[in-house]
Amino acid sequence: MLAVETKGLVKVYGGKRRVEALRGVDLEVPTGVVYGLFGPNGAGKSTLLSILIGLVLPTRGEARVLGLDAVRESLEVRRRVGVLPEGFGFYEHLTGLENLVYLGMLDGMDRGEAVEKAREVLEEVGLADAGDKPVKGYSRGMRQRLGVAQAVMKDPDLVLLDEPTQGIDPEGVAWFKEYVSGLRRRGKTVVISTHLLEEVGSLCSHAALIYQGRILVQGEFSSVAGRVAEESPYRSVVVFPNAALAESALRALTGRGVEAVVRGERLYLPLEPGEAVEALKKAGVEAPSATRFPADWADVFFHYVTRARRGGE
Ligand SMILES: Nc1ncnc2c1ncn2[C@@H]1O[C@H](COP(=O)(O)OP(=O)(O)O)[C@@H](O)[C@H]1O
Ligand SMILES: [Mg+2]
Repeated sequence: MLAVETKGLVKVYGGKRRVEALRGVDLEVPTGVVYGLFGPNGAGKSTLLSILIGLVLPTRGEARVLGLDAVRESLEVRRRVGVLPEGFGFYEHLTGLENLVYLGMLDGMDRGEAVEKAREVLEEVGLADAGDKPVKGYSRGMRQRLGVAQAVMKDPDLVLLDEPTQGIDPEGVAWFKEYVSGLRRRGKTVVISTHLLEEVGSLCSHAALIYQGRILVQGEFSSVAGRVAEESPYRSVVVFPNAALAESALRALTGRGVEAVVRGERLYLPLEPGEAVEALKKAGVEAPSATRFPADWADVFFHYVTRARRGGE
């Protein structure tokens, strides 16, 4: 069974300014993976996640979550799915523990059970000591941990996290990655929306690229990468220490019959990795090493976004 499945999902926000936030989304999230929902601001990520938990009604289409209908069975979905919504807030004057207990009781736990569970998850996210202090004294990093703690309070099989590392320092991001890996090891399905490529690359085995309300590509990295390799003229990518070095490598290749391109610190070549290093050497460029294209999600998304833009979308 898929953890999440949507078919032809459309969302048009009404009002004065009509916004087509989703334009026919078919999403398939397998069970037990860390899944990235990647896209720029305004792509429709939060709208999609909100529909999955019944907060927003779709204009058309279907969404199933853990086998349940997201619209007709939304209460059951919310009982079984842990969520960290965008811009999630707490009761500032209450302690971290009190916030969790309150949310646990809203989800149907009795007080004793909620306190026990809250202490357990506070420990798990490294807030055991801070749990008895008011949230108004918490740093951003602590708030993030508390947000994650409330999402896992009910021991959900599926966890949906909307931009979970927004505004978090590197230490907090590192903690978060470690924590999510732990969830996956315990067999949970985790869906993370983000506009940060690095996050998809370092956390997700599967991902969907969402762009202007449409999914341009989705699936496991290896299978998506195979398709990109077939469609693209590029065979290898060389990552330079910085963009200036990549640019000068490109200039050195000029007039040598190699149709390469540069994006940031990456040089893309229509040659196999071994041939690419050879060609660069002949042009007088000390190439670190060449990797098969596409090397990672950044290359995959670059390929599809470029194509979508060319298609006038
Ligand atoms: N409640 C709303 N009413 C009207 N338009 C909205 C609403 N929520 C989001 N939108 C619009 O829908 C589009 C998708 O937004 P959103 O789902 O928040 O994208 P993302 O989370 O990827 O940034 C944007 O153009 C946004 O302005
Ligand atoms: Mg959003």
